Amino acid sequence: MQEGRDGFSSRFGVIAAAAGSAIGLGNIWRFPYVLGENGGGAFFLVYMAFILMLGVPLMLTEMSIGRAGQRNPYGTFRLLAPKTKWYLVGVMGVAVAFLILSFYSAVAGWTLQYLYDAVTNSFEGKSSSELSGMFDSFTSSAYAPSMWTLVFLVMTGSVVVAGIEKGIEKYTKVLMPLLFVIIIILDIRAVTLDGAGAGLKFLFQPDFSKLDSKAVLEALGQAFFSLSLGMGTIITYGSYIGKKENLISSATSVSLADTAIAVLAGVAIFPAVFAFGIQPDSGPGLVFITLPNVFQQMPGGYYFSVLFFFLLVIAALTSSISLLEVVVSYFTEELKISRAKATVISFISVGIFGVLCSLSSGPLKDVKIFDKTVFGLFNYVSSNVLLPAAGFLIVLFAGWKWARKSVSDEVLGEGKAETPLFKMFMFIIKFIAPFAIALVFMNAVGILKL
Ligand code: PFF
Repeated sequence: MQEGRDGFSSRFGVIAAAAGSAIGLGNIWRFPYVLGENGGGAFFLVYMAFILMLGVPLMLTEMSIGRAGQRNPYGTFRLLAPKTKWYLVGVMGVAVAFLILSFYSAVAGWTLQYLYDAVTNSFEGKSSSELSGMFDSFTSSAYAPSMWTLVFLVMTGSVVVAGIEKGIEKYTKVLMPLLFVIIIILDIRAVTLDGAGAGLKFLFQPDFSKLDSKAVLEALGQAFFSLSLGMGTIITYGSYIGKKENLISSATSVSLADTAIAVLAGVAIFPAVFAFGIQPDSGPGLVFITLPNVFQQMPGGYYFSVLFFFLLVIAALTSSISLLEVVVSYFTEELKISRAKATVISFISVGIFGVLCSLSSGPLKDVKIFDKTVFGLFNYVSSNVLLPAAGFLIVLFAGWKWARKSVSDEVLGEGKAETPLFKMFMFIIKFIAPFAIALVFMNAVGILKL
């Protein structure tokens, strides 16, 4: 650790913070829905294979690069590859974090409104179409979504401003175990409903007929987004990990925790959806329209709806913290300003774009750039273009540019001899990962049509 530099104080703190980043709206809403559309159990097997084969190695790579650099992604690449253009990968990481945070905080704002609605029992007695109207009229209004976006960013900023050990680590160490407990309670409720079996079957029974090449690539994209890879986040958190920490075990634990939560979220959602005869493939409405419908039909639904939306808020918060930290660490270290000032500047700039994203479903819905709303554009450019591109460059860097000895010093410990597992890791990083990511990227931008 650089002298005087803030950092994680414990192994559990490292894992809680990184798992907090990985576990988010992507797990609890997106994973079950994407899985449902792509053949259920078959998609799950492919997803698991990508997590193990590519996700864990890339997470390990990002943690190693970050810890070797001991600074924000931009500064890290400057240090590790001086007088080259590799620092652009770091710049890209900071930019992607900024973009993702803008639209992520807009959706997170919705989760706050829904937590409020759940607490005030606003779903009670509403029909499906009334619940759907409630979602549309809320997201298309001007004031409430913008206000909740800013409230959410204030919550995020107030954790980040306190720093790593006294802010991020302190909060994620409490919030992540709480999130596990809540999701398990929701799982127990879901699987004990009459007719829950159909939902579990939908989730776990492989149907290989629906597994086309598009589904395979979706599984890869979902794996990267879900693990927060390709964005500078894990590089930034890696820079706060102490030299004695075993990165192989940290990267593995975080990836497993992330996968476990995605599965537990599916188990909480689908049995309930099936038990009440609701369509499982209702897209963005699954969480905001379908679930309130489910909750108000189930015994104890009020309490479970409050718990569920509270869970979503926590998951979104621990992810947005990691995104804001990327931007703040860049400002503090490169512009040499205080953490407090950097947080305020980031809050104001992300706040402006966050509000623009939240207005994209309402007053700004006709403002189109490249035929997309601001929200749609940020979402598309960051997830489909910048994320895979940065992920690709990061593995190229570690596989081909960075000295193999430096990689092994970080991964195995200084001066240790290479193990067979390490050799396999290097093979993946050098050959398999760049090839696989390039495939997703070319498909996403339409160069290659699979
Ligand atoms: N991994 C988060 C999720 O699954 O919701 C989203 C995310 C967080 C992506 C942080 C990128 C990031 F840097």
